[in-house]
Amino acid sequence: MSNKRTVQQQFSSRNAVRGYATSDIHARGESLAALASLIHPQPDWLALDVATGAGHTALTFAPRVRQVIATDITPAMLAKTAELAAQRQVSNLETRPADAESLPFPDDTFDLLTCRLALHHFPHAENAIREFARVLKPGGTLGFTDNITVPEKAAAGFYNAYEKLRDPSHHWVYPLARLTAMFERAGFSIIETRRLQKELEFHTWADRQNVSAENKATLQTMMREIPAALKPLFAPRWADGTLYFSLWEIVLVMEIGD
Ligand SMILES: C[S@@+](CC[C@H](N)C(=O)[O-])C[C@H]1O[C@@H](n2cnc3c(N)ncnc32)[C@H](O)[C@@H]1O
Repeated sequence: MSNKRTVQQQFSSRNAVRGYATSDIHARGESLAALASLIHPQPDWLALDVATGAGHTALTFAPRVRQVIATDITPAMLAKTAELAAQRQVSNLETRPADAESLPFPDDTFDLLTCRLALHHFPHAENAIREFARVLKPGGTLGFTDNITVPEKAAAGFYNAYEKLRDPSHHWVYPLARLTAMFERAGFSIIETRRLQKELEFHTWADRQNVSAENKATLQTMMREIPAALKPLFAPRWADGTLYFSLWEIVLVMEIGD
């Protein structure tokens, strides 16, 4: 099955739709607050949120811009975004199905583009980043966040195998230097950077993606055997009869060149 079909399958389940709509990390995460405080939109801006999930980022910016288009490849997630927008009486948010790697918009359309916690699903991240550059107006703003891993190759491979066992639609999390190089190649200048470490409870994290009992057991064993280079990142601790571990997330605010 292609990665994109796998994404749609993973994110269409009731657990996923409900989980991403209510998840603290997604609905109230530190990276959302960071984007909201670091980006200063004008009231006449047209914004695009790519891979919107349950729409948390689009809903955060909607009151501060003229209009937000929230896009995602999974129709069930877009339906949840529309439902939350209606509940909160947000009338300037429109949903539209779209693949991040081939955006259905003309060049130079948006003043602001946001993409939060999603690039690791895209099989061709660099194509998506070029699309971000294409649809932004010259001088437009990109608000981006995603998880990052350590630069050591074997440890980065272990990290990605861990994430992929939990979510088969996970493609690849990059070390920061590889990520920033992709953006700079596409013409972006980085204006602000924030590094975050967020702690998760294992079962809540695994259940959002319907992980089987067998795979949960494997993931817990893997966490006891992580390479040394991953110890500062995962920082695992066993307490209250469960496992807690961390992920690193990067927040980048960028501007596209003229
Ligand atoms: C973790 S959720 C995104 C969270 C959301 N941006 C937020 O701020 O809460 C990941 C989303 O990426 C979407 N996605 C994955 N691959 C995609 C692609 N190629 N194009 C568009 N959306 C994609 C999934 O359908 C899913 O809704």
